[in-house]
Amino acid sequence: MTNRPALPPEIARRRTFAIISHPDAGKTTLTEKFLLYGGAIQMAGQVRAKGEARRTRSDFMQMEKDRGISVSASAMSFDFDGYRFNLVDTPGHSDFSEDTYRTLTAVDAAVMVIDGAKGVESQTQKLFEVCRMRDLPILTFCNKMDRESRDTFEIIDEIQENLAIDVTPASWPIGKGREFIGTYDILNDRLDLMDRADRNKVAQSVRISGLSDPKLKELIPAELLGTFLEEIEMAQELMPKLDHDAMLAGTMTPIWFGSAINSFGVKELMEGIATYGPEPQIQRAEPRMIAPEETPVTGFVFKVQANMDPKHRDRVAFVRMSSGHFERGMKLTHVRSKKQMAITNPVMFLAADRELAEEAWAGDIIGIPNHGQLRIGDTLTEGEALKVTGIPSFAPELLQTARAGDPMKAKHLEKALMQFAEEGAAKVFKPTFGSGFIVGVVGALQFEVLASRIEMEYGLPVRFEGSQFTSARWVHGTRDAVDKFAAANKQHIALDNDGDTVFLTRLQWDIDRVGRDYPDIKLSATKEMM
Ligand code: G4P
Repeated sequence: MTNRPALPPEIARRRTFAIISHPDAGKTTLTEKFLLYGGAIQMAGQVRAKGEARRTRSDFMQMEKDRGISVSASAMSFDFDGYRFNLVDTPGHSDFSEDTYRTLTAVDAAVMVIDGAKGVESQTQKLFEVCRMRDLPILTFCNKMDRESRDTFEIIDEIQENLAIDVTPASWPIGKGREFIGTYDILNDRLDLMDRADRNKVAQSVRISGLSDPKLKELIPAELLGTFLEEIEMAQELMPKLDHDAMLAGTMTPIWFGSAINSFGVKELMEGIATYGPEPQIQRAEPRMIAPEETPVTGFVFKVQANMDPKHRDRVAFVRMSSGHFERGMKLTHVRSKKQMAITNPVMFLAADRELAEEAWAGDIIGIPNHGQLRIGDTLTEGEALKVTGIPSFAPELLQTARAGDPMKAKHLEKALMQFAEEGAAKVFKPTFGSGFIVGVVGALQFEVLASRIEMEYGLPVRFEGSQFTSARWVHGTRDAVDKFAAANKQHIALDNDGDTVFLTRLQWDIDRVGRDYPDIKLSATKEMM
């Protein structure tokens, strides 16, 4: 990204990012504090009572009832220090990982939250790998420093080793657990001291001039000062300094230490995102890339949420603006159908409120209510026909047969399933042999949510039953080769909700067999969303 022209100021001040973490590390708490500092909420406790990842089945059902709330939490915009932050929510539960992956295609950076006592956990690692595939810059927040935490060097080592990324401390903790009093802000040569008495109060920040400043002795208790000075000296000797280019390339992550629940370290992290976090980036597309500063407006759909109001069957397509300056009422070309769409009532999500978006710049996320025209992966543009690429659909890991509770309602069920498929909530396969539908998901909880939504939103009782198949692969080859292959393997063939041919498998053996017996057929576990 070097040697690129400076972006227009309105675009340059956008910071669009997601938070990734293992359940319980503190993502919800941190989000809330971001909103608090961003002036989007007045009091902590307004976002969600509980971390999404720890929700039980009934919590999810309740969430479905409160869809308005979960929708507004999908993308939140707020201002901080003259910057516009767009925080895109990723589902915490691993059963919704496909959604998470797509969300990460809409952001320019990720904040990785880890629990200071637990270090890098399984879900952190998985999500990190996804970020790595896209070379996303990552800023790390080591949370819960008010509790007994691991040794600072050990935490940094673990991130370096497990995630194979260089780590540079942006701050350094002073004291541990009950004795944790704050951090030394390495990037700004500042002492930040925590106010344990008031969780919503901004901590005290004292500018110092280097580690020999006499103020250090006044502010840090003698029993902590020695260890702190020793550690920081060693850290500065052993660890790399912040290399901005390496950070932007995703090979180095700065780490801040803090305690989200005590609002501590959060503002420093936000300053870090503002100062170092990337500006809106170039978007991969065909036949050419899209630069954010281009005048024609372009954006793409990365998420669709349907039936926010079951009475109206409306949907909101979440669109990441890739270029230009959008204004309400603009006519954009929907590239897939080549039709013009007047975007008259786009919405933006400012914390709990949904507001009409009068304008949006490259980097912003807007919601476009529609009746099903907009699908995940679609590109909207004011200029030439470009198609954003890199938004995949994954092969499901669990398959079940869906049956309508009332056999007379099979057609209705088909319609409902197709709508959820378009929303990206499940894959729906229609076997060419036999009747019924096979529904594929990534995590078991998705079946429960689906069944409950079909019942609630369409008034259709539905049963999911075991299927003989365990996975599915998309079939690629010349038309002729695919037809021949399908005819010879009828019992395994289905069409997905876009009409593409898939091969339903029971065992890895099935896949190996195709590789051996059909050299002109390629099976894939992902497909690009159209
Ligand atoms: P998640 O979204 O990543 O799942 O995590 P969430 O923010 O819900 O936080 C998980 C638990 O960790 C919550 O406690 C939360 O209060 C606590 N927590 C978050 N940040 C800190 C911190 O800096 N220090 C300490 N000590 N705890 C923190 P809980 O008791 O499970 O839930 P709650 O009843 O407090 O909401």
